Amino acid sequence: MAQIWNDDDGERWAADADRRDRVLAPVGEALLTAAGLRPGEQVLDVGCGCGATTLLAAGQVSPGGTATGLDVSAPMLRVASARQESGGPANGRFVHADAQTHPMPGLFDVVISRFGTMFFTDPVRAFTAMGSALRPGGRMVLATWQPPEVNAWLTVPGEAIMRHATAPVDLRGRSMFTQSDPAAVEALLTRAGFVHVRLEDVRVPLHVGADVAEAVEYLAGTGPGRAQLAAVADADRDAALADMRTALTGHAGPGGVRLEAAVWIVTAFSDAPRTAAR
Ligand SMILES: C[S@@+](CC[C@H](N)C(=O)[O-])C[C@H]1O[C@@H](n2cnc3c(N)ncnc32)[C@H](O)[C@@H]1O
Repeated sequence: MAQIWNDDDGERWAADADRRDRVLAPVGEALLTAAGLRPGEQVLDVGCGCGATTLLAAGQVSPGGTATGLDVSAPMLRVASARQESGGPANGRFVHADAQTHPMPGLFDVVISRFGTMFFTDPVRAFTAMGSALRPGGRMVLATWQPPEVNAWLTVPGEAIMRHATAPVDLRGRSMFTQSDPAAVEALLTRAGFVHVRLEDVRVPLHVGADVAEAVEYLAGTGPGRAQLAAVADADRDAALADMRTALTGHAGPGGVRLEAAVWIVTAFSDAPRTAAR
């Protein structure tokens, strides 16, 4: 996983960071609203990627607080540091480390993450480490994806593409959906020592393109879009893209193309200091 985020996936996210952050801005807003950050708080942003939510959090905990973004991806952290150096808040900082193994002494009031916790090879160990980063009673607030079939930003382009596919593509099996099942998330976080686990069903519109052409290009370049297009024969690719255009036209308005996203905003609390990973 660390290798993927340092190679292809990380480079792809880093190269398109500004657009991805525009698309995912409503999710970041929902996450930070739920986190209810206050000036003076110490925040850890796990899987911070290019740092958008870390820098927003840093602004919200100022004065007196700090926001630390932690990630395994060198290319994405390069973007995060560049963003901070070009006018970001001085109380934000970035750490290159694996959340599963990095020792994080219980100094944080809040752990946040926008889609940064679904890629762990050992999730219990990772969440236990995140719990140990919190002071007793500290809170963790995560954004994770609901299943693909309730995310219109996936079903609308996906149904158009899959009409041309030669084989089924199981999006549910992708790592981005490993925390889509509320019962499994609650069991995982409880096993990692968290208490009062709650999942809030949040629906937000994603602005996936200024027009239909940009929406097709953006959605075809996402992980799910690329996986589905890979199941289409080369000779049928143009027809699949044309069907995507038609499907997305129904969602275009004067402000661009908007499709609904369904996410879980997960809140949980640390009840006691922990040191052991298991
Ligand atoms: C889908 S991206 C989300 C990035 C960012 N939070 C955002 O919303 O733009 C997932 C992030 O999790 C990071 N990640 C994956 N496994 C990790 C681990 N074990 N420790 C720290 N970061 C990890 C990846 O490098 C990547 O930046």
